[in-house]
Amino acid sequence: MMSPDFDGHERARWSGRARAYDRSFARLCAHPAEALLDAAGVDKGHHLLDVGTGTGTVAALAAARGASVVAVDAEPSMLEVAATRLPARATVLATLPVLPFPARSFDASVGNFVINHVGNPAAAVAELARVTRPGGRIAVTLWPAPAPTAQRLWGEAFDAAGAERPASLPRLEAAKDFPRTESGLSALLEGAGLAGVRCETVSWTLHIDPDDWWAGPAAGLGTAGLILDHQPPSVVAEVRAAYDEVTAPYRTDDGMLALPTSALLASGGLRH
Ligand SMILES: C[S@@+](CC[C@H](N)C(=O)[O-])C[C@H]1O[C@@H](n2cnc3c(N)ncnc32)[C@H](O)[C@@H]1O
Repeated sequence: MMSPDFDGHERARWSGRARAYDRSFARLCAHPAEALLDAAGVDKGHHLLDVGTGTGTVAALAAARGASVVAVDAEPSMLEVAATRLPARATVLATLPVLPFPARSFDASVGNFVINHVGNPAAAVAELARVTRPGGRIAVTLWPAPAPTAQRLWGEAFDAAGAERPASLPRLEAAKDFPRTESGLSALLEGAGLAGVRCETVSWTLHIDPDDWWAGPAAGLGTAGLILDHQPPSVVAEVRAAYDEVTAPYRTDDGMLALPTSALLASGGLRH
């Protein structure tokens, strides 16, 4: 069920990088967290699975709502940070699409920007459906294609600096890929048997210090980090200069960046 190349790349890319993630991309991913919990109907007393919890943003918000939370991630350094933000024994090391829970364990399951990191997204959603009880809900977020401005600017900085891309970038097998659109994500959830599937596009502006936004790829995170890792130091310096240039139109008076972005947010219910 795993896609060894893609999933293997993911394990290596996230390995030991939780602090850099927390400083950079976690701020981007935090925006739709409350809407994700709303879409999953998460409330006081519910038993929630937050899969791909990262440094625990969504799980901590759910715990603050009074839900009992199980926070899963495939990367130990993420769980170390998440554990500092969550009740004792809330974290579990596990890797989609295989979760170590009996069927129907949770009232709701959520994944904030996670299924795009799994080699078999359909199997991942099917696994969330398996561990969620009848009548429960599932909600997920995903980056749309084409990429929103905040993410697209990385490519512009690489192009402006003449940075060579690695010969091959990890890609999903074509048969396992799906359109990163409202209808594409809806179809993925419907394919797992979910009912009443809804998907919307959530748009916002990420306000972040330019050095914090740079810190993620500089530490090797994401596709931008993979490309940056591939460059000699002189080109990294050129990419940084190009990054400052392409992001200049998005600088605010206080020196922060205001980067427009958007995400797909989809949810559906388990049939009784
Ligand atoms: C973009 S981060 C999102 C983290 C968090 N949900 C948030 O909102 O900040 C993706 C997370 O998914 C985890 N991840 C990637 N592939 C996974 C898999 N197959 N199973 C479980 N977690 C995975 C990564 O380790 C990382 O922590």
